[in-house]
Amino acid sequence: MAKPKVLATRPLFPAAQEILNAGCEAEYWTRPERISKEELFEKIKDKEGLVCLLTEKVNQELLSAAPKLRIAANVAVGFDNIDVAACTKRGVVATNTPGVLDETTADFAWTLMMAVGRRLIEADTLARSGNWKGWDLDQLVGTDVWGKTLGIVGFGRIGRAMARRALGFQMKVLYADAVRAPEAVEKELKAEYRGMASLLSEADFVSVHVPLLPETSGLFDAPRFLKMKPTAFLINTSRGPVVDEAALVHALESGKIAGAALDVFENEPFIHPGLKRPNVVLAPHIASASIETRTKMACMAAENVVAMFKGQRPMNMLNPEVLKAK
Ligand code: GLV
Repeated sequence: MAKPKVLATRPLFPAAQEILNAGCEAEYWTRPERISKEELFEKIKDKEGLVCLLTEKVNQELLSAAPKLRIAANVAVGFDNIDVAACTKRGVVATNTPGVLDETTADFAWTLMMAVGRRLIEADTLARSGNWKGWDLDQLVGTDVWGKTLGIVGFGRIGRAMARRALGFQMKVLYADAVRAPEAVEKELKAEYRGMASLLSEADFVSVHVPLLPETSGLFDAPRFLKMKPTAFLINTSRGPVVDEAALVHALESGKIAGAALDVFENEPFIHPGLKRPNVVLAPHIASASIETRTKMACMAAENVVAMFKGQRPMNMLNPEVLKAK
């Protein structure tokens, strides 16, 4: 029997290719530039499966160009690039890659927090510049991270991984979430539940770990920045549109907050010029980018596709009702 045809919009990693090739006739987009919408629509015409990145939109338009499509496997945990309702309507299974990137993402949020608090990028720049004149008492003094108050907004797997790290830094941890965590989790992580306003007014570092949803879009707006301490920092490794970037720039320019460290942006890859300031650390959306984790993510997406064509339920279905209906 002919294997199902699948398109992967990146070459993936060898381990993931091995999984995908065993169950499918896979075509990989291998050129260094991203696949254009036109080429994607052309190539998807005869495909039953798609392994895609968060930069590709799986929406009504793509679905219309993909009459044979049965599964779209996102190589990411966030799936705001996928119109799940449209997929469900068309009977297309959508999957993501939850769980495998939690610790790696929390590591990177921590990296950003330390970098902005301790002015690492400015320090590196000075050290390389040839202008360093030696140790000085007030040179590049930053702010302590240990012992401070960390406010975690979004207390899912990644938010909790962030809280676990804070235990080692003797931080006070506050969290805000639509749903309160079980008492056992609060106890284990020494995390206190707070409303947003109270968290923002108390935290020295605010780290964002919510998915992008209509309710979280623009969550960090001008009034919320006003609630933060002028000495506080915002860390964002979730999704750019959760933060109103113009409001953030204004808060930074007017000293309403002390700084920010950002891995994600409102209109990637565009970065608001007002964010290119010494008290802002910028990273190009790499929080999950360790070789171990990115390999696991790609393998997970490949496994989801292969399972589907074997007649099994993919592990990470975003719309399980599609298969229930059959
Ligand atoms: C990356 O941003 C992801 O959602 O996995």
